[in-house]
Amino acid sequence: MRRSSRIRVSGLRLIDTHDARADDASQVESHGREDGARHNLPSQLTSFVGRERELADIKRLLATTRILTLVGAGGIGKTRLAIQAAAHLDTSAERVWFIDLAAFSDAALVTQAVASALDVREQPDRLVLDTLIDVLRPRRALLLLDNCEHLVNACALLAAGLLRACPGLSLLATSREPLGVSGETVWRVPPLSLPM
Ligand SMILES: Nc1ncnc2c1ncn2[C@@H]1O[C@H](COP(=O)(O)OP(=O)(O)OP(=O)(O)O)[C@@H](O)[C@H]1O
Ligand SMILES: [Mg+2]
Repeated sequence: MRRSSRIRVSGLRLIDTHDARADDASQVESHGREDGARHNLPSQLTSFVGRERELADIKRLLATTRILTLVGAGGIGKTRLAIQAAAHLDTSAERVWFIDLAAFSDAALVTQAVASALDVREQPDRLVLDTLIDVLRPRRALLLLDNCEHLVNACALLAAGLLRACPGLSLLATSREPLGVSGETVWRVPPLSLPM
């Protein structure tokens, strides 16, 4: 059976016609922007394949650790898995924010990237980090820091500062290398096993 669905790409609405079986991509959206902005996870243009055991492991770990880093080689599926896990969490996180760090080359911009994703404006004579903490401290939230490998030290510093100050906050990171922050659970992403 074929049907149409709306997909957002960088603010544009596209009409995508696809097989109804390949429906995991639209599930990401159905939990998000259209129904009260529970998350800002990017919509996917392809269906999610397999990874049931991995998703269960990640879900279990996120219930017990405040910073979980999915680590693995480039292209192994860290980002895709993290997005899928974050879209279907049934933890107490009231809000999930996705921050893609791939395009940032300057460590000094990591905090700004997070602030921008949360729509937190810089205030005169205040560190952005402090303003960010004010916003996050009263909330139960998950930040998905995606593609951290080229900025691990900056991500580790930011993670430590936020987790210390915001008791209801958890972090899910993807990186080719662990962040090396205290309390981090490092979870190695296995290769995708396809059905024989
Ligand atoms: N389980 C999956 N189902 C469908 N597509 C997948 C799955 N895992 C990965 N992919 C696709 O494979 C490609 C690479 O995956 P992804 O970007 O998640 O890798 P990565 O480990 O984050 O790579 P990098 O280290 O370069 O950031 C993407 O196009 C992604 O959509
Ligand atoms: Mg990635």
